[in-house]
Amino acid sequence: MSRILSVASEAVPLVKTGGLADVVGALPGALATLGDEMITLLPGYPGVMGKLETVREVAAWDDLFGGAGRLLSANASGLALLVVEAPHLYEREGGPYLTPQGQDWPDNPERFAALCWVAAEIAAGQAGDWVPEVIHGHDWQAGLVPEYLFARECAVPFIFTVHNIAFHGNAAAERMASLRLDDWRFTPDHYEYWGQISALKAGLMGAARITTVSQTYAEELLTEEFGIGMDGVLRDRQAVLSGIVNGIDTGVWNPEADPEIKPYKTPKGKAANKAALRAEFDLPQADGPLCILVSRLTEQKGIDLLLEALPTLLERGGQLALLGSGDPALEGAVRDAALAHENVSVRIGYDEALSHRMMAGADVILVPSRFEPCGLTQLYGLRYGTVPLVALTGGLADTVINASPAALARGVATGVQFFPINAHALGNAVSRLCDLYAQPKVFAAMQRNAMKQPVGWGTSAEAYHSLYADVLAG
Ligand code: ADP
Ligand code: GLC
Repeated sequence: MSRILSVASEAVPLVKTGGLADVVGALPGALATLGDEMITLLPGYPGVMGKLETVREVAAWDDLFGGAGRLLSANASGLALLVVEAPHLYEREGGPYLTPQGQDWPDNPERFAALCWVAAEIAAGQAGDWVPEVIHGHDWQAGLVPEYLFARECAVPFIFTVHNIAFHGNAAAERMASLRLDDWRFTPDHYEYWGQISALKAGLMGAARITTVSQTYAEELLTEEFGIGMDGVLRDRQAVLSGIVNGIDTGVWNPEADPEIKPYKTPKGKAANKAALRAEFDLPQADGPLCILVSRLTEQKGIDLLLEALPTLLERGGQLALLGSGDPALEGAVRDAALAHENVSVRIGYDEALSHRMMAGADVILVPSRFEPCGLTQLYGLRYGTVPLVALTGGLADTVINASPAALARGVATGVQFFPINAHALGNAVSRLCDLYAQPKVFAAMQRNAMKQPVGWGTSAEAYHSLYADVLAG
């Protein structure tokens, strides 16, 4: 039984740009079943402020990084929250990190430093009567917490979860004062990183334990290829690094009771959803597998590899329905593919409800990521009997059982993996997948295996629960 303050920049269902929000939103409920009390500290973006219930002010500051701020205790959609209300930092149009034009907010370092500074206030008993025993921070936006804890001589331990090492949260050294950082700690042992301030590094150096969202990514992070400049730091801290794979909310992602779909218990029940999905995406009948991809459209996600391998899928009678948004060049490229082929259909945008209908109706979910710390869409796919075709990396390596001859013979395969991560290997994997799809019994067995995989939070919530108990035991 521990009291934990979770510090994050997004949480479902209040604000989401990616899987981080799903994890942060699901953890408190999963931990509650084990007796842990987790309260989530979030920035008061407009989308958060508008949804708060039972609001109570627990602290106020005249100058919270450049303007007045308050800490509110509140509930929203079943989450127990502490919310930093600071209009000068968070009350803006646009996303949590980006302007409406898609640029980083220039004051992002201060915006998230304020969040971390407030977390330390709470831990030091300076903000309300609820005081956590552990702080659990997520990604660089929570990285400065240990610096502020140190400044207050507060001994509450900090656990840091890396969801994506690619984002460092760097700021120029001149911003030390505006970030309220001690200049004598501007050293490689603390938050200095190649002459800059790095919130990510501060978190990695100051954490009692570091976790990341799969075992394979924990190993990959130690390599130059995947560590993206932080591999050296992580090798130094390897003794406290571990991987805990993400779960999904099996209540929200439940093919037997999903209000967006025609519910089903077995793969056979997908047929009606498939017909509906084809109609929704204006796709004709076809002999090959109906594949989907639901993703941010960025370099990480390997969309370009898929476009290169697309001819193989189309030659085999396969189809692609894609939902995503992001990089304008990639948006243009997938739109062009849809214009060029009647068996490719694309929706640019963000649409949670549509993503459920896609999971229910598709035969295959594609995740050709160049790196993937965990990945959630392959987990939704498993749960919905939608066979994942994934790159062999990070959480995709840990959650999918490749249809090797041995796995097929033992009847345990749940998907197809490809390696190395390039268009050629992806094309070969698409061929293998089409071969499997052409054997209805084999494919249906894979779908049934997929649906049996334990993709909920059970084991992983227990792993976090033990981690909190461990750091508290010293
Ligand atoms: P990442 O966090 O790197 O984006 P994940 O696979 O962990 O990757 O999580 C992505 C989450 O965002 C999933 O819940 C996925 O369904 C959702 N998602 C991504 N793009 C879209 C979209 N265009 N519409 C609906 N949901 C999306
Ligand atoms: C990051 C990663 C993704 C992971 C998610 C939640 O956004 O890119 O792989 O699933 O965080 O941990």
